[in-house]
Amino acid sequence: MMVHPYPLALTAIALVALAVAPHAQDMPSAAPSAKEASERPAWQAHGLKPQSPDSPFEEVVSGLYFRSKETQDMQADDFNNPGFLAVEQGEELWSKVDGAAGKSCASCHDAASTSMKGVAAAYPKWNGKLAKPVNLEQRIDICRTGALKAEPWAFGSPELTAMTAYIRNQSRGMPVAVKVDGPMTPWFERGKALYYQRNGQLDLACASCHEKNHGKYLRADFLSQGQSNGFPVYRLRDQRLVPLHERMEGCMQDVRATPFKPLSDEFLALETYVAWRGLGLPVETPAVRN
Ligand code: HEC
Ligand code: HEC
Repeated sequence: MMVHPYPLALTAIALVALAVAPHAQDMPSAAPSAKEASERPAWQAHGLKPQSPDSPFEEVVSGLYFRSKETQDMQADDFNNPGFLAVEQGEELWSKVDGAAGKSCASCHDAASTSMKGVAAAYPKWNGKLAKPVNLEQRIDICRTGALKAEPWAFGSPELTAMTAYIRNQSRGMPVAVKVDGPMTPWFERGKALYYQRNGQLDLACASCHEKNHGKYLRADFLSQGQSNGFPVYRLRDQRLVPLHERMEGCMQDVRATPFKPLSDEFLALETYVAWRGLGLPVETPAVRN
């Protein structure tokens, strides 16, 4: 706190303005420069009608359309999209024998292009054996430890993120189709409560930024709806693929809260709820973001 008092104070002012101001014009400290304003992405033209009448959005819009034309073009071109290196790494791991059972993923699931098509679009998904939902990273590690008798991949490891990206890529273009009924309902409700819960020293909820203020600047960042359809995303800032729970950790750190742990029940509930907010959006993995 004492090291950089000036930038921190500036941040707090910008965020407080964001939290209370209903219109972008009322947020002088968060206002874009003239250059940024002229480049403001036209995200409104790209929305889908929400599938659920309970959706908080008039239109559901992918984070893609909140990024610059340059970033959008990079994502659209498979040869220039740097996220594809990880997808290719995932493809190699798919047929690589590993673990005491002497198997690879392909031994049971054959070609991922067939067996995994559409699968990731429905995650997180209820797991009867564990009596809780699992996300794709967890589902991959269930097969690693169970079917392959191999060590699980750690969350955030290049291998787990690459495999997640590879499997998600098999659903590219298919609509997000998470199920929130039946035993998933309490997880959905918990995720919703967490989404609207204010956190950290700046006392902001996920909704403060991504529901009330998408389409506005928060300092240099143009705020999106905080959708998850592109994850893992290639972040230009980090020059690597970033999994969803790491991104959510970052958002919590930005409001000076102690983030939940990756793969915690809290983040599983939030992942479920965030996926519901983006029902129908096409899976974009690997998306490219700032
Ligand atoms: C010994 C056979 C076997 C091997 C090897 C195997 N799996 Fe599985 N996998 C299964 C079975 C069985 C299921 C459960 C199917 C179900 O419950 O619908 C499953 C389910 C899955 C699912 C979820 C599918 C869905 O419809 O939700 C994913 C993703 C998956 N495996 C990925 C992998 C990956 C990645 C590897 C390699 C690291 C792997 N599997 C290796 C047998 C295997
Ligand atoms: C202080 C404002 C703020 C808060 C509060 C906040 N975020 Fe974010 N979030 C951002 C910014 C800035 C970005 C990057 C630009 C963008 O996509 O909005 C971002 C990006 C994201 C993305 C990636 C979107 C994409 O398309 O790549 C997700 C997902 C996300 N946030 C989820 C959350 C969740 C869940 C919470 C609550 C735990 C949260 N955010 C709280 C500011 C915030």
